[in-house]
Amino acid sequence: MSEDRYLTFALAKGRLADKTLELLAQIGISCGEMYDKKSRKLIFVNEEKKLRFFLSKGPDVPTYVEYGAADIGVAGKDTILEENKRAYEVLDLGFGACRMCVCGPASAKELLLHHERIRVASKYPVIAKDYFYNKKHQTVDIIKLNGSVELGPIVGLSDVIVDIVETGSTLKENGLEVLEEICPLSARMIVNQVSMQMETERIRNLISQLKNVVDKDY
Ligand code: PRP
Repeated sequence: MSEDRYLTFALAKGRLADKTLELLAQIGISCGEMYDKKSRKLIFVNEEKKLRFFLSKGPDVPTYVEYGAADIGVAGKDTILEENKRAYEVLDLGFGACRMCVCGPASAKELLLHHERIRVASKYPVIAKDYFYNKKHQTVDIIKLNGSVELGPIVGLSDVIVDIVETGSTLKENGLEVLEEICPLSARMIVNQVSMQMETERIRNLISQLKNVVDKDY
């Protein structure tokens, strides 16, 4: 469609945004000012290619995309599942690979095996609930935490946790282990459903260029 309209990207602030910018640079899309770490500016424009980029908190990316404030977003699969917003997930960008797991002390294995009514602490209550209720058909009590979730079983708040495991060192250092794997995670590109119809060619073209780079890299 029209080349005059800006395509807007919402990027999850931090490592995911940095990696996404590296990827975009590989297909010739740059946004100079955005690489300045000291800058507090939140929105950046590439006039030549009619692209706009803004940085937001990870969990807000699917919200911006669902409402069409951003045409395209890049966020972790964990965030996408947890926020459960309407958008097309179009590309696995490969980086930020890790796993969503049920973790706890080895002694909690029995509780899982026997489908006991256990307490589950997590930053991801939606994912935890979906896993235990819909996939395992196990009734559990879910306790929402905001970080350092590994503390849950250590201080007696919960029996297990549902959390991201990357290297596994946080678990190890706290005497916990992976008990069950829920799903693999990585950075994903999502697209607003209306934008996909209105800007099909531009967006498809972008996806296929990125896919070529991603397939080469990972
Ligand atoms: C994440 C996650 C684990 C840790 C896993 O926490 O919640 O705690 O990383 O990584 P590892 O397997 O490589 O040890 P994050 O650092 O985001 O901080 P948080 O605990 O405050 O959420």
